[in-house]
Amino acid sequence: MHGMADKITIFGAGYVGLVSGACLAHSGHDVTLLETDEGKLDSLRRGVSPIFEPGAEDLIAEGVAAGRLRFLHPDEAGPLGGILVIAVGTPTTTTGAADLTAVRTVVDRIASAAEPGAIVAMKSTVPAGTGVRLAEKLRGYGCEYVSNPEFLREGSAVQDWYHTDRIVLGGTPVALERMKALYADIDAPVLTCDITSAEMIKYASNAFLATKISFINEIASICDFLGAQVDDVAAGIGMDARIGKDFLRAGIGWGGSCFPKDTRALDFIATINGYDFHLLRAVIEVNARQRVLPVRALKSELGELEGKRVAVLGLTFKPETDDTREAPALEIIPLLAAEGAEVVGYNPMTLGGDDYAGVRVCPTLDEAVACAEAVVITTEWPEIRDADWTALIATMAGRRLVYDGRNCLDPGRVRDAGGTYLGVGRPQ
Ligand code: UDX
Repeated sequence: MHGMADKITIFGAGYVGLVSGACLAHSGHDVTLLETDEGKLDSLRRGVSPIFEPGAEDLIAEGVAAGRLRFLHPDEAGPLGGILVIAVGTPTTTTGAADLTAVRTVVDRIASAAEPGAIVAMKSTVPAGTGVRLAEKLRGYGCEYVSNPEFLREGSAVQDWYHTDRIVLGGTPVALERMKALYADIDAPVLTCDITSAEMIKYASNAFLATKISFINEIASICDFLGAQVDDVAAGIGMDARIGKDFLRAGIGWGGSCFPKDTRALDFIATINGYDFHLLRAVIEVNARQRVLPVRALKSELGELEGKRVAVLGLTFKPETDDTREAPALEIIPLLAAEGAEVVGYNPMTLGGDDYAGVRVCPTLDEAVACAEAVVITTEWPEIRDADWTALIATMAGRRLVYDGRNCLDPGRVRDAGGTYLGVGRPQ
């Protein structure tokens, strides 16, 4: 790195903060990560990543060993200069609005300790319209404000950092020039715009991707009525470059830390400004309806679920993460339990504890599936997708129903093994 580089201080060692910090240190920057949670700090100082993210732990170790990455409590930080990245959580509130408590705490801290000329870069997802007000406030303390939304996906966040489709920077030209230095080694177009537009890009991106998924899920429902195969339909429409093949996998819907929260927040932003975002609300409703599909299918195939053993497989919101935020299984399990089913769970990665949504989590896939009359695949973990389903089905009971909520199994194979296969938009 050249000597003039800004030092970087990141507030919040969650997914975004930790991955950004580890990658920036790997790229040669000097990074201090500030975290208030003592447990997380402890873990990081021992070289153990508090989140599961492929590649992150190695980069953290490398950064610490090279002296380019350190972890402090905000109280230990001293004067704040250079580039100050905000990457704290903005959880959803009961109204759907984003909760900005953590962001406000950090902004107050910056206001009281910032060195003039510092740049505040917002990576937390804040409601469009928030940044201009924060910029105004921080200008009073000699700081420039930049909106720098993050598009990292959990499970491939490190890859995504270095192979992003674009870098979005919203703010004044001078501040943006200094921000570009952070991404000098990344070969991606940089889109510069005003603060509010940058904030909208983040919300609109996630809302659009959620829309693609809900769209294909509605098409899947119609395929079920008509006898068409949604996988073929998705492949066919995805070949049109204007549509694109990604995010057209039908299933029991999206979950995670971003799509549910950000679609609700965007709907709230529209509403509070007097606009009725019909389309987005339909996208959210369709997603809620997808969650009910497996329960309805099991009831119609098996009749009463009372006392019937059902195994729910894949308890995270997607594969290769330990994140269970808004995971479909968290909603589907209580619905099955309410019908009287005897539910057990299984997840390829242990989630800490042998209880999930009030049901027992089995230590192995074999144990979860044995004697079950139905299994519901809620996440397409490779271990679940690539399991020996012929052998597994042989251990099941009754109708041996396999509800493939992620369309990840070969229906023919399940049927040949004596199972009853049900997918999403995959009628027999
Ligand atoms: C998402 C965005 O992709 C990322 O750019 C943003 O910054 C954060 O939110 P993430 O939540 O990690 O990332 O996961 P992603 O891979 O996008 O999947 C989100 C959800 O959609 C998962 O529950 C997944 O199972 C579901 N999904 C995805 C589908 O149901 N069908 C698809 O075709 C794609």
